[in-house]
Amino acid sequence: MVESSFIWYDLTSMTVNNRRNTKLERLHKLREEAQMGGGQKRIDQQHARGKMTARERISRLLDVGSFHELDRFVTHRSTDFGLHEQKYLGDAVVTGSGKINGRPVFVYSQDFTVFGGSLSEVVGEKICKVMDLAMKSGAPIIGLNDSGGARIQEGVASLGGYGDIFLRNTLASGVVPQISVILGPSAGGAVYSPALTDFIFMVQGTGQMYITGPDVIKAVTGENVTHEELGGAIAHATKSGICHFVSENEDKCLDEVRRLLSFLPSNNMEDPPLTETPEQKGANKLIDKLLEIVPEDTNQPYDMKDLISYLIDNGDFMEVLAGYAQNIIVGFARIDGRPVGIVANQPKVMSGVLDIESSMKGARFVRFCDSFNVPIITLVDVPGFMPGTHQEYGGIIRHGAKMIYAYAEATVPKITVITRKAYGGAYIVMGSKHLRTDINYAWPSSEIAVMGAEGAVGVISREEISKSENPEDTRRKLIADYQEKFNNPYVAANRGFIDEVIDPRETRTKIITALEILENKRDSLPPKKHGNIPL
Ligand code: HXC
Repeated sequence: MVESSFIWYDLTSMTVNNRRNTKLERLHKLREEAQMGGGQKRIDQQHARGKMTARERISRLLDVGSFHELDRFVTHRSTDFGLHEQKYLGDAVVTGSGKINGRPVFVYSQDFTVFGGSLSEVVGEKICKVMDLAMKSGAPIIGLNDSGGARIQEGVASLGGYGDIFLRNTLASGVVPQISVILGPSAGGAVYSPALTDFIFMVQGTGQMYITGPDVIKAVTGENVTHEELGGAIAHATKSGICHFVSENEDKCLDEVRRLLSFLPSNNMEDPPLTETPEQKGANKLIDKLLEIVPEDTNQPYDMKDLISYLIDNGDFMEVLAGYAQNIIVGFARIDGRPVGIVANQPKVMSGVLDIESSMKGARFVRFCDSFNVPIITLVDVPGFMPGTHQEYGGIIRHGAKMIYAYAEATVPKITVITRKAYGGAYIVMGSKHLRTDINYAWPSSEIAVMGAEGAVGVISREEISKSENPEDTRRKLIADYQEKFNNPYVAANRGFIDEVIDPRETRTKIITALEILENKRDSLPPKKHGNIPL
């Protein structure tokens, strides 16, 4: 009796084990199937184009082994379209969370091997789920885009999916950093999700963004243009200003995404991550090289990037929109281990003048930094706003106002250094005290005035010059008087518009001290629903 009961128990446990094994086998089989996306043939095609698969990209982007996948077994719903009968586990996107430099992020990666990465209703739902989780948990969201756009077989359900994503992009703006990486096509209305995010990375030769493709353009306007010329990385990095970072291949591009995140906090409630740097030990040293950068002749150009390289840790400057509106420089760096956003005029390009493109570029960057608690360092050498009908008709008044609005509204620590010219309206715009910048320094070579000496003398002393016995001598003398009386940093310092005229060699030390002083800065805006920035 005892023996037979033992046999019965043994048989039962074998059955339970067998059932468990069968269930486990099923799970692993399904996982394997999901892993294969649209199948080996399409994976091979993807590789042949120099592109990674959606899963390979995720593994490459995230810290090793940190990916935690969601919705692996979701499939599309529509069954009423002959061409759409094949179902793939996970559909055309891989979603989940992981870590970058040890910090959580959420990610979605469109799978071109499944229906060309097109966005079905469930693909939209999967993407929205990770966006919602990112918002709730205060972690950045990274979208790896490689898609033929709206899933044609799903019509309006697919369009609705895009709408749901756009809504979340907008709500997440200023809450968590949003990054779009364009690694394949991104066509039609699909471009608007990346456009709503904070930064767009593109890979040269494979990443392409456009509202209407070359065929439609040819039909409508007769214009001949290739996919790459129209919507490639270089076009968007230099002409439209849509693409913030260009990479030559996917490997480098994903490295750059990791690098960007190293400067940023995970959300708007955190401060950017501090880094211990060897440079910190030498924080107080004078930098003689800074005396050699700005030429004596005020009309001679110099490269502001040289100057920046001496102010930041290890010369590590992650320039944003490097190929667009090069008369202004914006980007991220660390000073004494603290991430900062740098906004600087570039005297080497169009004398660093402010125009429509540079105003838009600068204003958007300032607003990003302010959203995510990144202190703003402004380096000023600006002759003014660009004159001309092209600029006026193009709306320089409205676009220039964006810079004023962005600086005035920003409540993060703001530190400005005037290295040479700060004339007219551009003086006010470029992080002046009047737009509540906290600490304003000027180098002794600064020229802070309504306009340059020659122009000013021409306006206010025209009669005196023309009536004098030797007009040229008089003009020269008046210019020298003007330089002495108005065109120096001391008039502004006398009023407190400049807090300190500093020795250029101590600039880095002064910025470090100012960042320390402002570490716990609190400032606010009047209560309102939102302002009305001149868009
Ligand atoms: C369903 C699609 C698809 C789509 C591609 N595929 N786009 N399936 N819906 N939108 C499928 C193809 O049928 C093909 O399936 C596979 O994906 C790969 O596509 P190919 O054309 O073979 O690849 P390729 O030659 O590399 O061309 C890629 C492409 C092209 C340039 C993206 O597929 C294309 O032009 N697709 C349509 C793009 C488009 O017009 N989308 C709508 C944009 S409007 P098989 O089974 O053969 O492998 C839009 C509105 C959004 O998106 C609105 C938001 C508000």
